[in-house]
This record gives sequence, structure tokens and C-alpha cells, in this order.
Amino acid sequence: MSLQDQIDTSVARVHQAAPGFTPALAIVLGSGWDGIAALVQQPVDIPYAELPAFPVLGVAGHAGSLRLGQIGGQPVALLRGRKHAYETGDAAGMKGAIRTLAALGCKAVLLTNAAGSLEPGMPPGSLMLISDHLNIVQRTPLHDEPGSARFIDMSNAYDTTLRDQAASAAEAAGIELHEGIYAWVLGPQFETPAEIRMLRLLGAQAVGMSTVPETILARHAGLKVLGLSMLTNYGAGMA
Ligand code: HPA
Repeated sequence: MSLQDQIDTSVARVHQAAPGFTPALAIVLGSGWDGIAALVQQPVDIPYAELPAFPVLGVAGHAGSLRLGQIGGQPVALLRGRKHAYETGDAAGMKGAIRTLAALGCKAVLLTNAAGSLEPGMPPGSLMLISDHLNIVQRTPLHDEPGSARFIDMSNAYDTTLRDQAASAAEAAGIELHEGIYAWVLGPQFETPAEIRMLRLLGAQAVGMSTVPETILARHAGLKVLGLSMLTNYGAGMA
């Protein structure tokens, strides 16, 4: 099956399970973020196994299903589990899933993750809005894309308007929300203390093993992106 056939089949499966459903927002739930799934009203669950464009997951703790429903009266699609580039060496593991969201008419995606903190002032437990990223890995999920459409502009990759809205919502809810640059490392090994010093010198505030390929795919597919990191630990050598 070609990728386009996989996407078409996945869209048809979603329409079968939830006729007429167009998510206003998709949320990719990273490690530790699955609790958001409980907030969805009138949930409809579709296992990734029934969506050929979606990945086969390897990491334990990820449900591997798409949950459709409403949060705050808005139609949302939750991706419960992601494919990481460190699992296969391929940065394009989420390509079919992101393109299926775009084909469903979704216009924005919230990418969540767990990350290491590179800032003494952001202790474990802090929440960080991603303002920009460093693709330290220098890999792309777009290497086999034809034509000039692959040369995407990344200058507002993490949408300024969505970031302002997120900051206002956090303030209204009394939640402290930091903002900073996320450095993508391939993993799965954690960084050395020397690598953490390098990333801090380069201007990153957080480090993690996901999200950046999805941001690139989403921008290529025309989706706006918001990124949120839950900082679970200080970078190696910082504690
Ligand atoms: N490094 C890379 N990825 C991570 C970390 C880290 O310290 N913590 C959570 N994900």
C-alpha cells in the first residue's frame, strides 16, 4: 500500500467510527501526558492497528490508539503514543499519522513530550512552552519528498499566536509556564555531561528525543504547531 493509500484508508476508518468528525486540534501525547485522555468527552477509540498510516509502537506505556471526542466543547483528536526516531533510525515514523490529521481537516497540533531541563530555574516538574527548536540530530522526515514543497519555512514553526493563547490560558489557570528552546537529540541513550554543557552553550533550555520530526512534518502538511515540554529531570551533570 502506498503512503497515500494508507492515509486514505485511515481517513475512511475515522469517518466510519465518527461520521463528519473534524478535529479542531490534535494532541500528540508524550510520556507522562496520557492523563489528558481522561478529559475527553464522548470518546471514540481507534487502535493504531486499524489505521494503516499510523505507527506500530515499540515503547511500553504508550497505548497506541487514536481517541476522538470533545474537550471544552471542541472536537479533538488525541494520539496516544508516538514513534521515535531512536526506535528505527528513521525520522519519518509519524509521517502518515500527521498527514492523516491534515487530511481530516485538522488545522493545528499540540505536541507534548517529557524533556530534560537545561535551566537551573526550571526544576523537574516545570512546564515549558517550546518557542523554537534546535535540530541537533540534523535528520529530516522530508528527505524523500519531491519538488520544492520540501523547502519549508521554519521561522515561525511554533506558532506565535497559539503560544500567546497558551501563555494567557496558563496565567488564567494559575499555572507557571516557562518558555524556551527544545534541542532534539536522537537517543535512546541520555546525554553526557559534556553534551549537556554543549546544548546549554548553544542556547537550548530543554533536551529531548522527540517532537522535532513531528513539527517538521506538521509544518510541511500546513498544520500550526504548539509544543509543550514537561521537564522530568535536570540534564546530566547539572543536579
Ligand atoms: N535527555 C533527553 N531526553 C529526555 C530527558 C533528558 O534528560 N529527560 C526526558 N527525556
